[in-house]
Order: sequence, then structure tokens, then C-alpha cells
Amino acid sequence: MNVNGEDYRTVWMEGLSVYMIEQNQLPFHFSIYRSRDYLDTCRAIRTMIVRGAGAIGAAAGFAMAQAYIQGNRDKDNEFLAKARKDIESTRPTARNLFYAVERVFEAGQEGAEKAVIEAQDLADEDARCSRMIGKYGSDLIRDGYVVETHCNAGWLAFVDYGTALSPVYVAHRQGRKISVLVDETRPRSQGARLTAWELSNEGIPHAVISDNAGAHYMSQGKVDIVIVGADRIAANGDVANKIGTLEKAIAARHYEIPFFVAAPLSTIDLSCGSGKDIVIEERAEDEVLYQSGMDAEGGITRIRVANPGSAALNPAFDITPNSLITGIITEKGIIRPTPEAIQRLFD
Ligand code: MRU
Repeated sequence: MNVNGEDYRTVWMEGLSVYMIEQNQLPFHFSIYRSRDYLDTCRAIRTMIVRGAGAIGAAAGFAMAQAYIQGNRDKDNEFLAKARKDIESTRPTARNLFYAVERVFEAGQEGAEKAVIEAQDLADEDARCSRMIGKYGSDLIRDGYVVETHCNAGWLAFVDYGTALSPVYVAHRQGRKISVLVDETRPRSQGARLTAWELSNEGIPHAVISDNAGAHYMSQGKVDIVIVGADRIAANGDVANKIGTLEKAIAARHYEIPFFVAAPLSTIDLSCGSGKDIVIEERAEDEVLYQSGMDAEGGITRIRVANPGSAALNPAFDITPNSLITGIITEKGIIRPTPEAIQRLFD
């Protein structure tokens, strides 16, 4: 990704350190966070310095590699088992995190160097898959289209390129005149903060809309296609994605607007038969009760936006049933969300 003329990945590893774009500071401040050990990388995942399925997958793989370097002990010692558990307990929903930890843990059985190589390979694969998703998905976006997207499944949610936004970037670079309606995505506002920042960097026309406005624009014929990302996809094609996705899918079906999910195979979990098997992360109620933003001095301030004394509920994801999904854009092409089509991806 290009930030002020420089090429960046969202997360990368050099020596023992893992570097990541500090996403809690965006779009107000661009900075790089350096984590020097695996526990610090766990903290970065939990506090969402790094976030988005692919990016936390890569960060988790690097954390496992850091643990191998730090441990430097027998292959099956307690330290590594504890490290694996620590990393896996940072966030429960994104499949990519578990996929990465498993691969790097296995590779590290032959030595810390192998763990690092595997983690770097995983990050490269993530970027490659996102690129292919852009290639296949861009065929769905015609000249003049308005694309609606939810949350942030762009560069920042992956190592590079992204998933839901990757087709948008390709279509734009190919000269198609398109624009994007960006759902703000409360409570953490990944759409208003991160997707809008990415689209500005790319010079793509866009508008942030409140989470309640999607159906309104759909009803007026102002949305041509909805493309969202995914955190975990079950074997039957049900999709876990950022809270609010389900409502968009229901509205899109009502107004007969194509609704696509973009995700790499590393997000698919064949051990989950359906969406019912996917664990939904519950996050702190403060994320709903308070909002953060830039104050007049350029600092980041938090203010309460809900009635003092009221409690809040904060599920981070919801499940969109396969019946509401037009297709899934993967690095192997676009498929229907059926158990058979999903299984064929792995044959
Ligand atoms: O809680 P986050 O920000 O890590 O959530 C993940 C997401 O950004 C979305 O659900 C996204 O649409 C899919 S992840 C590429």
C-alpha cells in the first residue's frame, strides 16, 4: 500500500521484532508500532493496534515465530505450548489467526529458523491471495457502479491489497468510474476511519454513511453491488463478518442487489459445519458507550455518547446465512456459497 509515496505492508517482521501500522491512531496519525516479543504482539492483536482477519493472521504467525526465537528450547516444551495458547486466546473469531498459528507452530518443530520462514511465507501468501481476489472481483464492478462496503476489508485488514476493497482498487486503476458508500461501522468505526482513509489515499470517490442509511440508499436504487469481507466462513457458506453485515445482506436481498463476500481460503473453516459453530467475540461495553476522535489540539480524545449509568452489549460479529450471499470471491475464483463449491476449493 502506498502511504505518502512510500510502500508499506500492514504488518511485517525483521529480526525478533514485529512491526505494524498502528490502526488505533488512524486516520489522525500514521505511525508504526514495534513489538519486541510475542506477548507484546498478543497485546497488539487484542487491543486492535493490528486488526482485520488477514492482518491478525499474519501478526499471529509472526508472534508464534517470535516465541520460537525467544524460547529456543526443545521442540515440545511448555514455553511454546503456553505461547501458542496465549496467541490463540487473543481474539476468537477470525479463522486466519488459528490457521497461521497452526502452520507456524508445526514448521517450528524443525527449528526457530523454519518458524520464521513459514511466518514470512504466510504473510506473502496473504498478499498474493488478496491480489488475486482483486483480479477476479473487479469483473463484477462495471463502469459507473456504486459499491457499498461494511467495516474495513482493505489493505489494513490484510498484509496488503485487502479483500472487499481489492476489486474496487483494481476497477479504479483500470479506469472505471466508480464510487463507494462506506458504512461507518459502529462501534469502532473501521469504515469511517480506515476504509475512508484508504479510499482517500487511492483517490477513489466515496462517502461515509451512517450504519442506518444503507437500506435507504438501496431502496433508492443508489447501490449497484455490496462487497464485504469475512472473518470466518463455515463449510456450508455461512459467513461471520463485522456486526451489521447481516442487516446489509437482508436489505440487499429485499432490493435484489448482488451481495458478495471476498475472502481467501485461509478464512474458510471446514470444521465449522455452519455459522452456528462460529464463536462470536464479545467486546468491552465501553466501545459502545464511548467514542474516540481527534480534538482541537490534534490529540485523540474519548467522550461518552450514551446515557451515564446505562450498560451496553457489544457483539463484534454476526453471521450472514449462505442463502443471502450471491457469491464468494476467493483467490481461486468466484464461487456460489454452497457446501459443494466450498469443498471443491480444497480438492
Ligand atoms: O474487529 P476487526 O476490525 O478485526 O474486524 C474484522 C473486520 O475488519 C471485518 O469484519 C472485515 O469485514 C473482515 S476482516 C477482513
